[in-house]
Amino acid sequence: MFLSTWGLLVLSLGVVAENGLNGWLRYAPLSDELRQHASSLPSVIVALNETETSPVYMAGKELQAGLKGVLGHTLGLTHDFSASTNSTSVILVGTLAASNAAVKHNVSSLSADGFWLNVNGSQVTILGQNERGALYGAFEYLSRIAQGDFADVDVMSSPSAPIRWVNEWDNLDGTIERGYGGPSIFFGNGAVVQDLTRAAQYARLLASIGINGIVVNNVNANATLLNPDNMDGLARIADAMRPYGVQVGISLNFASPQTLGGLATFDSLEPSVISWWTDKTAQLYRRIPDFAGYLVKANSEGQPGPLTYNRTLADGANLFARAVLPHGGIVMFRAFVYNNHLDPADWKADRANAAVDFFRHLDGSFLENVIVQIKYGPIDFQVREPPSPLFAHLPHTKTAIELQISQEYLGQQSHLVYIAPLWKTILDFDLRLDSKPSLVHSLLSGYAGVVNVGTDPRWLGSHMAMANLYAFGQLAWDPARDSQLLLQAWTRLTFSLDPTVLNTITSIAMASWPAYENYTGNLGLQTLTDILYTHYGPNPASQDNNGWGQWTRADSTSIGMDRTVSNGTGFAGQYPPEVAAQFEASSTTPDDLLLWFHHVPYTHKLHGTGKTVIQHIYDAHYAGAQTAQDFVSTWSALRDSNASGTNIDAERFDDILFQLTYQAGHALVWRDAIAGFYHNLSKIPDEHGRVGHHPHRIEAETMSLTGYVPISVSPASTASNSTAIIVADGAIRGEAVAVLDGVESGVYDIVIGYFDVAGGRAHYGAFINDEPLLEWIGDLEDRLGHAFSTKLDGHSATRVTVKGVEVKKGDVLKVIGIADGGERAPLDYVAVLPLGVVD
Ligand code: GCU
Repeated sequence: MFLSTWGLLVLSLGVVAENGLNGWLRYAPLSDELRQHASSLPSVIVALNETETSPVYMAGKELQAGLKGVLGHTLGLTHDFSASTNSTSVILVGTLAASNAAVKHNVSSLSADGFWLNVNGSQVTILGQNERGALYGAFEYLSRIAQGDFADVDVMSSPSAPIRWVNEWDNLDGTIERGYGGPSIFFGNGAVVQDLTRAAQYARLLASIGINGIVVNNVNANATLLNPDNMDGLARIADAMRPYGVQVGISLNFASPQTLGGLATFDSLEPSVISWWTDKTAQLYRRIPDFAGYLVKANSEGQPGPLTYNRTLADGANLFARAVLPHGGIVMFRAFVYNNHLDPADWKADRANAAVDFFRHLDGSFLENVIVQIKYGPIDFQVREPPSPLFAHLPHTKTAIELQISQEYLGQQSHLVYIAPLWKTILDFDLRLDSKPSLVHSLLSGYAGVVNVGTDPRWLGSHMAMANLYAFGQLAWDPARDSQLLLQAWTRLTFSLDPTVLNTITSIAMASWPAYENYTGNLGLQTLTDILYTHYGPNPASQDNNGWGQWTRADSTSIGMDRTVSNGTGFAGQYPPEVAAQFEASSTTPDDLLLWFHHVPYTHKLHGTGKTVIQHIYDAHYAGAQTAQDFVSTWSALRDSNASGTNIDAERFDDILFQLTYQAGHALVWRDAIAGFYHNLSKIPDEHGRVGHHPHRIEAETMSLTGYVPISVSPASTASNSTAIIVADGAIRGEAVAVLDGVESGVYDIVIGYFDVAGGRAHYGAFINDEPLLEWIGDLEDRLGHAFSTKLDGHSATRVTVKGVEVKKGDVLKVIGIADGGERAPLDYVAVLPLGVVD
């Protein structure tokens, strides 16, 4: 009620509701005050290419549209160079070569895709080393203006690495592997979709952050992408993205010559296989002359590859490299190769060792146009990992880092986690090769970002998650950039120049990764999501005792992977000597990676705080979950500062408030599940007496039940007292009643813990003395994008809160649940919380 009143107020005052489709390229009007600075702006745009599909032409259009949005007037646009020599009030945009044909500019040292931006009063010159560079320069200029920065500048900017790609994990049927932003914008029903408007819009966003390539299909690739119709479809995607300088590539299925081509083999050295790939590649280049190349996941997680025929991984990579070489293409060959059937009983077995074990001896045997694409950490996009040591082992091979914008293990875009600070820990890590400074980013030829944009107008299913895509591109261009400054530029462009908005988003987003780490897996334990199911909610037991090798080795007395050379898996020894020595000893291993490298008793003391490991786990979970609660109040405070209605539109404000509120509830699920799990395992009490004590909760199974029956929840620690209630088989409606005779009369927050599963939309009503308190529907699957579970577990556990309820001792609290399909209106607990208590 309150919210929608506020929303109407804001809308009536003129902040236009926004759905996020334009991302950070909204070009919102600047305030009158700031526009005054723009008095000396150019009057005409000269774009030195009139071919409508060229990036320079697009740059002209973008400048025109952007300045119109920001400043409110339309500049003329011409492609005639002489217009720029006749006036001193011009934006000139083009390639260096096109401009030099007429007037020489003294621009040196730009590498491919680089640009020179010179703003001198009303004279603006944007020259690219190539067409793309000119477009990038135009976006840079517009970004400054949209942030209200009209200062003169003289910037020479070149990218840190030539390969700045995104990898989509889209399937031909339109689903997206680890997709949380709706179905694919590229594929559906086994083919490329007809309407590629969103693909073009995506290319525009990508170009604005310097991304020059896209692999459009899942690394777990379907060979039928290479049938003639689909290759025609790929050509249409390439046409849609080309004007923005984004080149299209694809993921391959190694077995395609056999499964699609009908050959008896897919052996990389077999002549028939070689010629099959050579032909296919030529067919692709006939359709897409600037086709970027191939991405290959081979011999990993059940995928076929060269090892199937006892060929080396380099043989496999070079097969494709030879096919694309004459056309100027490249091969991104993934280093994510490991055995997922490891023996957990083997103390020396370690998935983290795999990349170096598989690739070290291949250094120097890859062709020039092969880039080995390495996930940032040795396991799999966890909340904290050390950098992959493979970066230190391939001095004679080009490498790219693979980062994941999709928040697969980081809350799946239903939790706000700003990931750039995590990426920086890797990019800025000094591997000390030959005992010399060797920051990871200095060793790279490329960046690959796994992204799961979908048809959701917010692209990623969350407005805030877009900060990660923005930061990825910006860091690929220049890894020295500061993650907070990037966030702030993104915030100004995406939301508002208002300092309150800026401070609010800065404080929440910069605290978000540390908070998520705190309430999930600390001390290098990895994320502790359910790795055997949806990778979303907590299930610490799922890490161990299976072949996947994401082990924590937690038992009743001790925890952590022993990765030392002296007694463990030897992984620490894969780093160059100085780093290896640091990780070999627990005394020199940073606390936040302690359990990554060492197996220690729960009573082991951390050097940072002197706390025991177990007490740190408890404290971090309580602190992290508390921070998530604070996000809601910090965000809500924006509403009060928005009295003039100029800060932020109601549509996005409400959407973010909804997500943060959900996150706050789920952070408590995490807190209780993880702290409870290790408490149960170690039997070591929490010094502060919090874990396992919920004095204000009333367990649903202890209420008077009609139509409801108790059910055990697995993992046990994801339900309060391991038990929930569901509407009994054959019944539709259940009622759970508690008499509040244990509470003193007063004002309380009332919380109801329940489960929202896929497969139904149960209705709920809560009442006090039969007066309605709250009605809600278990329909989070319609409102959030994360992978939903069909079970009662850590993925589905959630809660609703009603704040400031007047309660009298002896009041009757009743919850009614109406089952729907597979959702049997499950309830976990109700809590009557004194104000200020979070539980
Ligand atoms: C993870 C992810 C898979 C993906 C794989 C990969 O394991 O869960 O969905 O296919 O990484 O990167 O290849």
